[in-house]
Amino acid sequence: MRLHVVDHPLVAHKLTTLRDKRTDSPTFRRLADELVTLLAYEATRDVRTERVDIETPVTKTAGVKLSYPRPLVVPILRAGLGMLDGMVRLLPTAEVGFLGMIRNEETLEASTYATRMPEDLSGRQVYVLDPMLATGGTLVAAIKELIRRGADDVTAVVLLAAPEGVAVMERELAGTPVTVVTASVDERLNENGYIVPGLGDAGDRMYGTA
Ligand code: URA
Repeated sequence: MRLHVVDHPLVAHKLTTLRDKRTDSPTFRRLADELVTLLAYEATRDVRTERVDIETPVTKTAGVKLSYPRPLVVPILRAGLGMLDGMVRLLPTAEVGFLGMIRNEETLEASTYATRMPEDLSGRQVYVLDPMLATGGTLVAAIKELIRRGADDVTAVVLLAAPEGVAVMERELAGTPVTVVTASVDERLNENGYIVPGLGDAGDRMYGTA
């Protein structure tokens, strides 16, 4: 597994406002969307392309286009949904699948409650979206499912990560073609499984249920 922390002043600026507890839901959603687009730019650095011949108004030339099979973007419900628009804005040809996963707040174990994506992902590049890499349980379960279906290149785009979650991913996904792209690896997880300093419950802050 590879970890890529995106170091950029615009990323740091948006993340600071996301962390601020005074930021309201509409602003949080907009900033999360913008932040995902900046992370997506880095996350898609190795997206597959193919050469195409085109004509400009001036001459014939060659360029590249996103190639087939189309990349698959998989938001993990619920909070990953708030990252979808920011991701597909940069990947207009992407297909979108869905994974509904829920974390038991006592055991912190992740289980799947809904799946909507192609059974066969052989040869596909997959971008999985989840705002918070906390214990790592949800992302590990999601990524193992994507690899079981044949995905040969998986990039997880997360707004924030905890070192504990990164360590779990490294252990559980050692030797797999997985990259994690994030805006920050924070200090730690607290006893309730929240990232510190973090930004609170990402789903609640996006959807105003706090
Ligand atoms: N999920 C969240 O939404 N926030 C955390 O800090 C950890 C997990």
